[in-house]
Amino acid sequence: GIDMTRHLLAIDQGTTGSTVLVLDTEARVLGRATREFPQHFPTPGQVEHDAEEIWASVEHAIEGAYREAGVDPKQCAGIGITNQRETTMLWDRKTGAAVHRAIVWQDRRTAARCRGMEAEGLLPLYRKKTGLVLDPYFSGTKLEWLLDNVDGVRKRAESGELAFGTVDSFLVWRLSGGAVHVTDVTNASRTLLFDIHRLAWDDELCRHLHVPRAVLPAVKSSSEVYARTKGLRVLPDGIPIAGIAGDQQAALFGQTCFEVGDAKCTYGTGAFLLVNTGDQAPESKNGLVTTVAWKVGDQVRYALEGSAFVAGAAVQWLRDQLGIIKNSVEIEALAAKVPTSGGVVFVPALSGLGAPHWDPDARGTLFGLTRGSSAAHIARATLEGIAFQVAELGRAMEADMGRRIARLRVDGGASQNELLMQFQSDVLDVAIERPANTETTALGAAYLAGLAVGVFPDLSAIERAHRIARRIEPAMRDSERREHLARWTDGVRRARGKLA
Ligand code: G3P
Repeated sequence: GIDMTRHLLAIDQGTTGSTVLVLDTEARVLGRATREFPQHFPTPGQVEHDAEEIWASVEHAIEGAYREAGVDPKQCAGIGITNQRETTMLWDRKTGAAVHRAIVWQDRRTAARCRGMEAEGLLPLYRKKTGLVLDPYFSGTKLEWLLDNVDGVRKRAESGELAFGTVDSFLVWRLSGGAVHVTDVTNASRTLLFDIHRLAWDDELCRHLHVPRAVLPAVKSSSEVYARTKGLRVLPDGIPIAGIAGDQQAALFGQTCFEVGDAKCTYGTGAFLLVNTGDQAPESKNGLVTTVAWKVGDQVRYALEGSAFVAGAAVQWLRDQLGIIKNSVEIEALAAKVPTSGGVVFVPALSGLGAPHWDPDARGTLFGLTRGSSAAHIARATLEGIAFQVAELGRAMEADMGRRIARLRVDGGASQNELLMQFQSDVLDVAIERPANTETTALGAAYLAGLAVGVFPDLSAIERAHRIARRIEPAMRDSERREHLARWTDGVRRARGKLA
């Protein structure tokens, strides 16, 4: 039953904004607030966040969510944290101040370093131990960059004055008044420094990346009491901080993808397709990465992941840079004005290409234009481009697993877009299910915290709370699907600078 006196707080610190939910003990949303924060683009290909701007957005979202929920923060049973992954922070343990702006996951500044490491023959080692590839996406080379490029920082790091962390670490540090420096296994698994089989930082990996052990946080499970709040303006002291997971893993958990083969795709800034692989951590042969899905109690679960760096960000680009829509949801009505993209193809490689191509030098490519091409065709091509990327990842996943994806659970902002979801189902040739609450990232964090503090007794209690709101079946002829995919493949070749 619902305990009206207790509630959970979920903090979802994403790439462009921070969302906070206040949930009752059956995971129903009592209050929510989102606060966007500035993106910094020092030069093309670089993306940074200011730690203080992130923190302010989190504080304001907490205040906003409580204002809407109308419950007493003193009755908070636990806080769950989920976050944009890989984004790399380094701060002073005494003052709590960052030594440099955070380097965001989309940032490509270490592309040459990654190529260099590959040339040294280090790829097989990193693949085997971390499940990842050598791409600037991950934290390791970003941390190395900070240590090498910010004045005096390497020495201070070696003497233990500085703390490295992904955003989860930073938030727990701030929420606990600097009491603990921790991360969880899911976030650690995105750093290139962590052995996903032993679940431990790895000396050999750290050595090649010149990362001193003194900067690393302690690695914990995804569901336990790490610390309690202390000295905050927006929350009372003593609330347990009880769940941590990277946003994509939190969404997998929030979608109750608890069985081997359960898959979800989150359409946020990027699009991230993950499939539960159980207690096995298989190495991908098709350009995906292997990652830790969660650790709850003694249970460790792994996932195969396909990451497309640009999904919602392409829609934002139409809005902010081209100005053909005023807000993101308008894209659906605009795209619906035309029955097809009229031969227009958009490969949204605006931050290079992630899985399965891993090409940081690829660039966004729009082609097939004629005098008759309109904003509507471009809008439609944008939605199709998002769906094609996910379809490509789905095929890679099926090849790795040796079986078809049975159904795909979707969430994130663009999962509300019916035109996109139908096209997604069509080109993947897989049924799609959308839950009633599409904020599954925050939901996952709340579940993890709720498990740790006893609000939820077990995983089946969480499964019972999960509601599917919409199911979409594929309805495209095979021949049409093949034509579409052939044009997409041609587009990817162009985006990678290899003109057909
Ligand atoms: O790996 C990056 C991912 O965690 C960012 O997610 O939702 O901000 O696109 P999102």
